Amino acid sequence: MADRALKVVILAAGKSTRMKSDAPKVLHKVAGLPVLQWVLDQADSLGALESIVIIGHEGDRVRKAFENRSNIRFVTQEPQLGTGHAVMQAKEALAGFKGDVAILCGDVPLIRPKTLQLMRHMHHSEEAACTILTTLRDDPQGYGRIVRDGLGRVRRIVEQKDLISQQEQIREVNTGTYLFDCEKLLPTLDKLGTDNAQSEYYLTDVVPQLADGGNKVVAFACDDHDEVMGINNRKQLATADGIARARIMDELMIEQGVTIYEPATTYIEAGARVGRDTVIYPHTVIRTGVEIGQRCSIGPFAHLRPGTRLGNECKVGAFVETKNAAYGDGAKSGHLAYMGDVTLGKNVNIGAGSIVANYDGETKHQTEIGDNAFIGCGTVLVAPVKVGKNAQTGANTVVPHGKDVPDDTIVVGVPAKELRKKPGSNHA
Ligand code: UD1
Ligand code: MG
Repeated sequence: MADRALKVVILAAGKSTRMKSDAPKVLHKVAGLPVLQWVLDQADSLGALESIVIIGHEGDRVRKAFENRSNIRFVTQEPQLGTGHAVMQAKEALAGFKGDVAILCGDVPLIRPKTLQLMRHMHHSEEAACTILTTLRDDPQGYGRIVRDGLGRVRRIVEQKDLISQQEQIREVNTGTYLFDCEKLLPTLDKLGTDNAQSEYYLTDVVPQLADGGNKVVAFACDDHDEVMGINNRKQLATADGIARARIMDELMIEQGVTIYEPATTYIEAGARVGRDTVIYPHTVIRTGVEIGQRCSIGPFAHLRPGTRLGNECKVGAFVETKNAAYGDGAKSGHLAYMGDVTLGKNVNIGAGSIVANYDGETKHQTEIGDNAFIGCGTVLVAPVKVGKNAQTGANTVVPHGKDVPDDTIVVGVPAKELRKKPGSNHA
C-alpha cells in the first residue's frame, strides 16, 4: 500500500484579507521562501505525481511565481465559494485517478515531511477513506471541531460558526490537512451543499458523507502546534518565519557542526549551506542559496546575500555585505566592505572600507580579483575591472572601469596609477 500513487491538491485561492497586503498570501516569504514553496516541497517529499494548486485571488501572480516548477498544475476557482468548492475545481485533474489524494492548505507551511509520512502510513494501515490531520488545542476557538461517536469513531467536523453549545468544549480540532482515497472523495464532492452558517461549500462536510456511508474516517494527531499553524496575518507570518529559521539553525548546529553563538540574533534562510567548523557570530544575515565552506568566520553584523559562495577558511567580518560573490579558499574581507558581482581568488585580502562599485546607474558589472591580491583600505574597484594575481592597491585607490591591474603590480591614487612591480615578482 505504501507505494500507492499520490496526487496533492493545495488550497490557495482565498482572499487572505487579514494579511492587509496587495500580494497574495502564499507569496509572502517564510525564511526566504514563498509560503507556497514550503507546501509544494511537502508535496514533493511525499512523492506526489502532481500538485494541483487551486488559485483565485491574485492567481496570475501565484501561477507566474511557480510556473517553471515540474509536476504542478494550476486550476482557477472563481468565485471562491468555500474549501469544498475549491476541491471541486480539481475534479477534472483527479478524474479516473485511483490513488491517494492529499489536501494541503497553501498557508500552512511548516508540517514536517515525517508527520505527513506517518499520517499516510496510518491512512494505509487503517484502510481509511479519509484521514484528517488533527491537533489538540487548549484554545480551540476558530477551528473546526472533530466530533466522535460513543465508540470513538470520527463522525463529522463542525465549524466554529456552526457549533452547538456542548461542542464548544471539544479540544480536538481540524488542521485543514487530509488524505483521501480518491475514488471515495470524488463522488462525495457532488453531494456537498451550502446549508451552514457561512453558506459555503465546506470540504469538512465530506466527513459525515463518508462516515454515514460506512467508510472509515480516522484522525492522525500532530502534537506539535508549530507544524500545523496557519498564516493569516503578519504576526503569524513572523512567528512561522521564526520557527522555520530556528529549525534551520538547529540543523546546522546539530547535524552540520556549525557554531552559531547567538541564534536569537542570527538570521539564516532556507536553502543556505554552511560547512563544518564554520563560526557564525551574532547579528548575521545569511540569505537563501548562500554557500559557505568549512572553517569560515562570519560576522558579527555580516550580510551574505543570494549568490554568495565562500570556499574554506574564508572570512566575512563586521559590516561586510556580499552579493553574487565567489570567494576562493582563504579569501578575507574583514571589515566594512561591499563585495557585489565579484570573484575573489585564493587568499585575497580585502582591506577595511573597500567597495566593488558594481552598478553604473544602468547595469551591473563584474569584477575579478586574482589569487593573493591585496586590496588596500578604502579601495574602490569600479566594475567591470580585473585585478591581477598578487597585485596590490594602496589605501584609497580608485581603479576605474576597464583599467585592469596587471599581475604582481602595485597601483595607487585616484585614478589608480602603477607605482611599481612587486619585489620578487617576474616583472620586478
Ligand atoms: C478550515 C476548515 C476548519 C479548520 C481550519 C484550519 C473548512 C470548512 N474548515 O477553516 O475545519 O479548522 O481550516 O485552519 O474547510 N480556500 C480556497 N477557496 C475557498 C476558500 C478557502 O482556496 O473558496 C483556501 C484558503 O486560501 C486557505 C484554505 O482554503 O488556504 C482554508 O480556508 P479558510 O477560509 O482559511 O478556512 P477556515 O475557515 O480557516
Ligand atoms: Mg484559515
